[in-house]
Amino acid sequence: MAKLIYSAIASLDGYVADPDGNFDWAAPDDEVHAYVNDLERSVGTYLYGRRMYETMVYWETAHAVAGQHPVALDFARVWQAADKVVYSRTLDAVSSAKTRIERTFDVDAVQRMKEIATADVTVGGPELGGQALGAGLVDDVHFFAVPIIVGAGNPAFPANVRVPLELVDERRFKSGFVHLHYRTR
Ligand SMILES: NC(=O)c1ccc[n+]([C@@H]2O[C@H](COP(=O)([O-])OP(=O)(O)OC[C@H]3O[C@@H](n4cnc5c(N)ncnc54)[C@H](OP(=O)(O)O)[C@@H]3O)[C@@H](O)[C@H]2O)c1
Repeated sequence: MAKLIYSAIASLDGYVADPDGNFDWAAPDDEVHAYVNDLERSVGTYLYGRRMYETMVYWETAHAVAGQHPVALDFARVWQAADKVVYSRTLDAVSSAKTRIERTFDVDAVQRMKEIATADVTVGGPELGGQALGAGLVDDVHFFAVPIIVGAGNPAFPANVRVPLELVDERRFKSGFVHLHYRTR
């Protein structure tokens, strides 16, 4: 059975975006980016909330950006190769290949997807990921702590959801980012 992975790049106090909606402080440097690329190589399907999709769809055309870093070109290839499912009650159309829209987050359908998938599945951003965590669908959590405290904003984890975790791996980077890999118990 495939794993469902929830990943977040967040401030040390747990926000994926600050009170102004900015997350430029969360941009990975080449060392972190290359590490993320390697983590995501095994992903066959991305499950996206509409808001995260609107950020990530940049990667559909990122290879055409002049002067693009090799590490970004590599990620663009990884992203373009995977299937995407966008959850939205409002979106009429998508602007990437291998992408479909779902109108509801059906827990049983995602469970079946895990059972038949031949490669891992990820879920994000936090609103959609929180529903997956709350439903007990998430197997692994990848948390990248950015060396900043932003005080408030969009939390990486849902309120009122309790998930015991087992630490599988950790890694520190020159930029001060720390990666924590947990498995749900
Ligand atoms: N730290 C970083 O590196 C980084 C990177 C990218 C983005 N971000 C931030 O991440 C955040 C995006 O995450 P988010 O939590 O705001 O949103 P999200 O989970 O990505 O998307 C939320 C949207 O998904 C749809 N949705 C959610 N649950 C659904 C359900 N059960 N059925 C159908 N559709 C559903 C709805 O779309 P509709 O409204 O269309 O119905 C909802 O508005 C933003 O704050 C962004 O700035 C951070």
